[in-house]
Amino acid sequence: MKVKNLHLKNYRNYIDETFTYGDGLNIVCGKNAQGKTNSAEAIFMLCTGYSPRVKKDKQVIRYGEESAQIVAEAESNYGLVKVEMRFYQSARKKILINEVPIAKIGELMGNINSVFFNPNELKLIQESPEDRRRFMDVSLSQMNKRYFYALKTYNEVLSHRNSLLKSEDRNLIIDTIRLWDEQLIESAITIITERNNFISKLAPYAKASHAELSDGEILTVEPIKEYGTTRDEIREFLKRSLIERLERDIILGYTTIGPHRDDLKITLNGEDIKVYASQGQQRTAALSLKLSELEIFKDRFSEYPLLILDDALSELDITRQRRLLKKVEGIQTIVTCTNTPSEVFGGFDYKKILVEGGKII
Ligand SMILES: Nc1ncnc2c1ncn2[C@@H]1O[C@H](COP(=O)(O)OP(=O)(O)OP(=O)(O)O)[C@@H](O)[C@H]1O
Ligand SMILES: [Mg+2]
Repeated sequence: MKVKNLHLKNYRNYIDETFTYGDGLNIVCGKNAQGKTNSAEAIFMLCTGYSPRVKKDKQVIRYGEESAQIVAEAESNYGLVKVEMRFYQSARKKILINEVPIAKIGELMGNINSVFFNPNELKLIQESPEDRRRFMDVSLSQMNKRYFYALKTYNEVLSHRNSLLKSEDRNLIIDTIRLWDEQLIESAITIITERNNFISKLAPYAKASHAELSDGEILTVEPIKEYGTTRDEIREFLKRSLIERLERDIILGYTTIGPHRDDLKITLNGEDIKVYASQGQQRTAALSLKLSELEIFKDRFSEYPLLILDDALSELDITRQRRLLKKVEGIQTIVTCTNTPSEVFGGFDYKKILVEGGKII
């Protein structure tokens, strides 16, 4: 998949600009606070409908404006696709694919695929299980609509179940919880099996990437909780666990088992990566996970998605920076950075796009 261009209208600090990307390495370069991340974020929004930096969609509308619009055109094995998003101060955002409005956000998934890395992704290593679940959810949702809808159902049912657990009426809980449990379990099975698949594909790629970027350090990734392998095994396990935990769940007022509580175990050279690894090692590991996502996309769709590396190079030494650039050669990549020193970029073929104050120079 190649993203041809990106048009931004009243989006963040842009008034009206069009980025035209090359098929290989694109470097979006400029001083701090000029709009580099804004442009990278816009593409990711068009892929997934959300951005890690955006709490409310309205925030992306240029100060003082009523609406904003972003459009990208991409070419994949399936042909040309045009994805457009319109944001309004006084209404919900609209999404159009090839000029046709879509009714459900799920229809957006998979039209343009990207893997996005920015320094926040270090959370993937350092912070809570939620960040590691989000990593899997974003990736799997782009690849697999079934996963996206299973996750949506799961979260809705879970929220009903948790409200019920908080009820004062114990008999009501005992009488009706089974109804929620059945639905919860069915969507949980899809989530768990898809995540397990994802992790078993991801782990060897991540190990290889990390070894290549570093000097042979060993990265391992595995799920913390084992539910079993087949759908029947997982169903039985969840059924049993939900019953066993019911008393506790009533006391706590929420559901204590299921995919919403799961986590990944990540080690480097056999030790817990959160506790023992250096900043550079953690960043390398986070990048390795993201690079593995590229390979999983490639296996599934027979082509690479767009790779966005926002401010990913800083904190890596020059050797690791060059190894990273070498590794992604041939994959359409957008790198944002403040300058392009020849000791890092020398010898690589790239298109440079200079931004200043929300304008392409
Ligand atoms: N809704 C908005 N309207 C106008 N300007 C905005 C809006 N949201 C953010 N900005 C501005 O966009 C500017 C650039 O943001 P961006 O994060 O893209 O910078 P950057 O080039 O990536 O910088 P850095 O090198 O520091 O990462 C910020 O100064 C911010 O004030
Ligand atoms: Mg930035």
